[in-house]
Amino acid sequence: MAHTSALLSHNTEDILKTLRQQFTLDDKSLFNITATFLREVSDGLANYGHPMAMIPTFVRAVPDGTETGTFLALDLGGTNLRVCEVTLHGDQTFSLRQQKYKVSEALKTGEVTSLFDYLADSVDAFLTESGSPSTAVPPSLSRSTTQAPHSGTFVDDGSDTQVPLALTFSFPVEQTALDSGRLLTWTKGFAAKNAVGKDVVKLLQDAFDRKHIHVKCVALVNDTVGALLSRAYTSGGCILGAIFGTGTNGAYVEDVANITKLGNDPAAAQGGPMIVNTEWGGFNNTRSSLPSTPYDNKLDRESINPRYQAFEKFISGMYLGEIARNVLLSFVDAAPKPLLFGGRATEGLNKQWGLDTAILSEIAEAWEGLGRFAPPAQSNGKADEEERLQRVRGVVVQRLAFASDEVSLADADIVRQVCTLVVDRAARLSACAVAAVLVQTGRAHLSESGQETEGLQDAGKRIGVGVDGSLVEFYPNFQTKLRASLRVLVGAEVESRVDIGMAKDGSGAGAALCALVAQKQNQA
Ligand code: GLC
Repeated sequence: MAHTSALLSHNTEDILKTLRQQFTLDDKSLFNITATFLREVSDGLANYGHPMAMIPTFVRAVPDGTETGTFLALDLGGTNLRVCEVTLHGDQTFSLRQQKYKVSEALKTGEVTSLFDYLADSVDAFLTESGSPSTAVPPSLSRSTTQAPHSGTFVDDGSDTQVPLALTFSFPVEQTALDSGRLLTWTKGFAAKNAVGKDVVKLLQDAFDRKHIHVKCVALVNDTVGALLSRAYTSGGCILGAIFGTGTNGAYVEDVANITKLGNDPAAAQGGPMIVNTEWGGFNNTRSSLPSTPYDNKLDRESINPRYQAFEKFISGMYLGEIARNVLLSFVDAAPKPLLFGGRATEGLNKQWGLDTAILSEIAEAWEGLGRFAPPAQSNGKADEEERLQRVRGVVVQRLAFASDEVSLADADIVRQVCTLVVDRAARLSACAVAAVLVQTGRAHLSESGQETEGLQDAGKRIGVGVDGSLVEFYPNFQTKLRASLRVLVGAEVESRVDIGMAKDGSGAGAALCALVAQKQNQA
């Protein structure tokens, strides 16, 4: 990263240089990581029990945009719990009505039945508020509530009709069918007791039944699969759905013949495509290829799942703020002379997870002059470095709760550089995962010469990729950064054909599409 400021002392410059060396991944490392990734893909397709679980989803068809219907979806796995009603219009568009609910730390770590009771209550509250799942209600339901949803009236009234619901459950679940699967492990800060090994559809259905709520869970889907299906629906084609949000993961369309661990499963005999949920957050848990720094090791050691989800801990929104916090604190604590904030820290900075990754996005926006930091229309748009750093300083003061005179421009400069290093590394690693999927599906060669296109699958065609998650949605230019490394790995010709598009509301629309697939596959 070029550095232009004259604000920093030689000592600080030296330390930043060392940090840059620790965090910068050269092209050779990208190739090595992608090659290791491909080996783990093969292992996971051949064997159960691999950390990168390569889960067969039993979804065998990708939508084309003509699908229709109204479905209820429940989405658990990111920062919020969402209940939505999705209507697919059959013309590549859909409409969606949703309600968000907060999931408290107590629910995330308490008894699993309490968590699923809360899920069932949320669905009941949603249905009760709207009267019926297909009654039009003003689209005003995007509020968050911190209270448990009340138990409503969508309960036993003697009728037999059950409202079909698809569950988007964004954790590693070993699926055995479209509507059943056992939780392999929790990720992303969830640790509810007595859940691992259980069928999550059954846990949810039992909660509905206990409460006499007339809802039937008909499909189970990971958010990555949802992103893939919804992007295919809205854009006409998609081979990879990827999430770069609280966690990171990808699902892609594989040839069922390559999922050798399916053995004699009837699904294998039928041949054709099947979507595989890679669970790439668990790639390289041994960290043999990943570029761990002491800051990453500290994060891992203090996390609730040390030595698991290694790849995710380098990339996703749950962790990037924490890595940056670890680095910043080492600067605050530097001896004999502090290098940052005059040796002071605030409560937020001192607390584990106290630096939200959203702050990294804001700092980048402030530096780049984007979003609410965009210069007024009449300006010539050029800000000098001091003006840009003043904006960054403003974010640091406000979001880390410093007094205004406690943060110098030099401090702002250090914070900005640290945060950029953390996110740049995440984007480069994300590109390895995308490149590996392109290679695995025959759409690219992994070649350091870069330009080989001989014998490629779908040569010359657009390659659809649907993405979702806070990092890719809100961090300025995350996609541009990812693409730059992707170009290194697969060559400019292939990279230029990759259409990366947001799969907005993918979890809702994708779940609806999965419910539709479930209906069709049951009828077949
Ligand atoms: C975590 C989960 C995975 C999910 C991803 C993104 O990695 O294990 O299932 O897709 O987060 O939400």
